[in-house]
Amino acid sequence: MAEDLRIAKGSKEEQYQNLLPQIGGLLQGENNQVANLANIAAALKEQFNFFWVGFYLVDGTDELVLGPFQGPIACTRIKKGRGVCGGAWAQEKTLIVPDVELFPGHIACSSLSRSEIVLPVYNQGEIIGVLDVDSSELDSFDEIDEKYLVQILQLLDK
Ligand code: SME
Repeated sequence: MAEDLRIAKGSKEEQYQNLLPQIGGLLQGENNQVANLANIAAALKEQFNFFWVGFYLVDGTDELVLGPFQGPIACTRIKKGRGVCGGAWAQEKTLIVPDVELFPGHIACSSLSRSEIVLPVYNQGEIIGVLDVDSSELDSFDEIDEKYLVQILQLLDK
């Protein structure tokens, strides 16, 4: 498959609704994890122009390592429980941070990142990493992002 992403205008919800089936199509018939993570990051970046969007993957028992992403260069390793990414992994839950400066222990890969959402990524019930989406604006993420990003990540769990 090789075709252009159809970029939608409209509300955030409409943009996710347009994107979701297209990501489903991109992932269909492909089991390579790097390829699928890379296309999810690229599709989200293209639709929403997020400052940074990408994956950190579980490496061993207590560390995440940088995976496929779109945006500026980033920290390569994050300990379990550290920062927003390490916190979402340790707590196995989505973390929405409206202002990163107010999040204790936030890891500032870039001073331009102002708010973020981090979600656990599961495969067959096991956490394999996190999706980290960063914005250069304050308070960019809410339960609409969580709802659709969860659905996008479920496409990986096959
Ligand atoms: N913001 C993250 C670190 C990763 S980067 O921003 C790409 C955190 O505190 O976990």
